[in-house]
Amino acid sequence: MVCAVKLFFHKAEKVNIIDKINFVKSIMIAFLQNTLGPYYQYIKFIHLFFVMIWLWSTAVGFVHYLLPVFKAWRRDPDDDDIRTMRDWVMERFDHGVIYEHVAFPMILLTGPLLWIVGGWTPASGWFVMKLVIILGIYLPIEFCDYYLSHFGGNKERLRKLGDEAAYERGVQRHWMFFLVTSPPIMMFGLMVVFLAVVKPF
Ligand code: HEM
Repeated sequence: MVCAVKLFFHKAEKVNIIDKINFVKSIMIAFLQNTLGPYYQYIKFIHLFFVMIWLWSTAVGFVHYLLPVFKAWRRDPDDDDIRTMRDWVMERFDHGVIYEHVAFPMILLTGPLLWIVGGWTPASGWFVMKLVIILGIYLPIEFCDYYLSHFGGNKERLRKLGDEAAYERGVQRHWMFFLVTSPPIMMFGLMVVFLAVVKPF
């Protein structure tokens, strides 16, 4: 008995830590594939549903409300009526973007599930490129967007603090953020969907 225990620990010591981690990882992957495998198409449906919300939920508000009112304010920055409208639209947009910001974590949850359950590997170029775009471009953009819309940069909160200068800085900073990020968001959004659907390589 003692010999058997000694032999067990002796053998266990010799097992490389990387091998142990890989062993646990493959058990977890096999578990997910066995339990969620039959539901792959359902997970894909949820993934796609939130991708649609994430991509399009702010489009009308941005193009037809935010953009015209900010352009009018740039043309006539001293007009009080335009400024009041600008602030109102900006605060409503901070609120409206909640759809997008609920959808994004759902995508980040269902995407990796599809990856694991579907057994996708780096051999699929479309998948690697999609991940690079999401991690390198969208994660930092969304990180800033969460802050500007819901946390320190939230306009309603800034207004309630009563600091007019901070409010104005908050609005203008958010506007600059839109100007810089809108073109890459549109371009890479289209690219990610193209890569996922067409899988060209
Ligand atoms: C902004 C983020 C994302 C967008 C816009 C997006 C877009 C899409 C779209 C449109 C599809 C449907 C493809 C089809 O039915 O032909 C899809 C599927 C898929 N996505 Fe995403 N996705 C995103 C994030 C992620 C992440 C983070 C992962 C993994 C880490 C991921 C992994 C997958 C996988 C494995 C599929 C299934 C492909 C298939 O079965 O054909 N996605 N994605």
